[in-house]
Amino acid sequence: MPRQAVERTASGPVRVFVASPDRSLLEAVLATPGCILVGHVEQPEHCLPILGQVAADALVLAGDGREDEDALLARHLRLIYPRLAVALIVPEMVATALAGLENLGVTVVPRGGNPGGAISQLFAPLGEPLQGLPAAREMAADVALPSRRLSGGPPAPGPVQRILTQQVITVCSPKGGVGKTLVATNLAVAVASRTPARVVLADLDLNSSDVGVHLDLLEGPTLVDVLPYLPEVGTVDMARFVVTHRPSGLNVLLGPARPELGGLVKMEHLRRILDWLRREYHFVFLDTPPDGTSELMQECLQVASRVLLVTTTDAASLRQARMAVDNMRRLGVPGDRVILVVNQVYDGGPVSLREVQGFLGLGTAAALVSDRRLADTAVFDGRPLVLGAQDHPLVVSLLSLAGMVCPGLIPHSPPDSRRRLFGWVRRVLR
Ligand SMILES: Nc1ncnc2c1ncn2[C@@H]1O[C@H](COP(=O)(O)OP(=O)(O)OP(=O)(O)O)[C@@H](O)[C@H]1O
Ligand SMILES: [Mg+2]
Repeated sequence: MPRQAVERTASGPVRVFVASPDRSLLEAVLATPGCILVGHVEQPEHCLPILGQVAADALVLAGDGREDEDALLARHLRLIYPRLAVALIVPEMVATALAGLENLGVTVVPRGGNPGGAISQLFAPLGEPLQGLPAAREMAADVALPSRRLSGGPPAPGPVQRILTQQVITVCSPKGGVGKTLVATNLAVAVASRTPARVVLADLDLNSSDVGVHLDLLEGPTLVDVLPYLPEVGTVDMARFVVTHRPSGLNVLLGPARPELGGLVKMEHLRRILDWLRREYHFVFLDTPPDGTSELMQECLQVASRVLLVTTTDAASLRQARMAVDNMRRLGVPGDRVILVVNQVYDGGPVSLREVQGFLGLGTAAALVSDRRLADTAVFDGRPLVLGAQDHPLVVSLLSLAGMVCPGLIPHSPPDSRRRLFGWVRRVLR
């Protein structure tokens, strides 16, 4: 295999960005000494904007087997990021046809049964293992890779290795009024205001859109205004259809201004809207209707890298949440992608968090305490809680939940408020 020399910056590790849905490539990077993972997107074309935000030395790019498209993307990347080493992994049958790309500094790697081997080969020109550097796996121990963080419970203490990943976070519940919009708006605002990432929140509750109320964004274009332009995504500037939430920098795609307009949005529109947002943003938050089974919900669940299932502890809500979990299983949504959010937890409540987790069969969970006055005032004022008093237990737990969906976001938690939170948790969750 012709080799592309990877220029190492100073004496540091090789910073690798992976653009592929194949998770074994991530594992391979983590297992290669001298490499660290600095970013990941599932769709190769999504890496274009994100690469501008991270310092990467090498890109592992999965081609989709369409020679022309793969060659175009690889050429584009070399042009925009000339210092970036690109390894293009393609099906064996097109590898020969793409060999010409090597003159442009792209390493074409036939996709065999051993992607890890391909990665090691790519970095073989580095020669001797880097002196004084721990193995990549050790360095990456705190990397908040989705599967690790989800299956591994709370984040490990100590510094968090920042990686930029493209995320779609679907906030859902089959039951109305449990706090979906409150959770979606607060998390999106927390991530937008505390990271340099591009963040958008789309209001997909088409018949009862209230993201605008929660964020005091009552005017401006809505999702319905986008519909005629969807065929032109990629060629026209779509930024004019989102509204900026000034205090946080969050971009918002507002829902239809009137419920009857929601009917204009067809599934094909929705798919194109999701595709557009995933191209443009690092974090796409989706607020959804109270519904577990519609086609819209299925699409939102299937594109999600994280699903936040919100429930309260009342019997009806739990029963419906259980049906939603069953439905997710049928749709093939992996259990470790789902975070259970038990909202409006109160002292002396009927069930503990652990019991709710057991009932729903979900391992990763967060509890948000109930404070009706605070929550309602925040909604009334259109000012998300996470922009207010940082030491209230509800805000602390919202920020900690934001840390679970956004690798690298360090939740603000002053020591005294943590003590208060844990006091609460101990009492409330038994
Ligand atoms: N932790 C909480 N403590 C107290 N009240 C809360 C909490 N979370 C949300 N609420 C209140 O519950 C109400 C419903 O919240 P929200 O609109 O976010 O729910 P929803 O699930 O989006 O509803 P819908 O299904 O109608 O869209 C709001 O008045 C909100 O202030
Ligand atoms: Mg709502």
